[in-house]
Amino acid sequence: MLKAIGSKIDLDDKDLTTYYHLVSDLLENELVLKMKEFTHHGETTCFQHCLNVSYYNYRVCRFFSLNERAGARAGLLHDLFLYDWHTYKPQKGERLHGFTHAKTALKNVKENFYISDLESDIIEKHMFPLNITALPKYRETLVIVLVDKYCGILETVIPRLRKVKTPFVKLAARFKRTA
Ligand SMILES: [Fe+2]
Ligand SMILES: [Fe+2]
Repeated sequence: MLKAIGSKIDLDDKDLTTYYHLVSDLLENELVLKMKEFTHHGETTCFQHCLNVSYYNYRVCRFFSLNERAGARAGLLHDLFLYDWHTYKPQKGERLHGFTHAKTALKNVKENFYISDLESDIIEKHMFPLNITALPKYRETLVIVLVDKYCGILETVIPRLRKVKTPFVKLAARFKRTA
């Protein structure tokens, strides 16, 4: 079952979600699935992060009548850099992961998938304003700039809240039993 963080919707329910039909080929792709091997934020894998971004991109683009298909597809591919950035050592003269991975992802995507100019812009510029020269050209790119950060915060904060919450939940259950 595929779920985006903070959502209860079963995303691979073929009968219920339009979202699934927009990205079903990508969800079965070997390279996309390979992102499951790398952790991204906290306990979240790169695949799950891309799924989160893809789904919320889709929702926001749909809400504002933007290109929801491009938002969903580019969202799922936007961090396809395929290495563990925690242990990645930049080559001599190469900048840090945060500055380079959007271009690496775009290169991998272009070598393996057909993408539109809009999808290319979404992937290449999703790290704006960190990459200050990569100015978003489309409104859908502005959407991923915000959604990517929003998901990053959720992925970092929610597992920590769960860890804090668990002892309180156990304590409450114990009081309930003894009451
Ligand atoms: Fe990224
Ligand atoms: Fe990202």
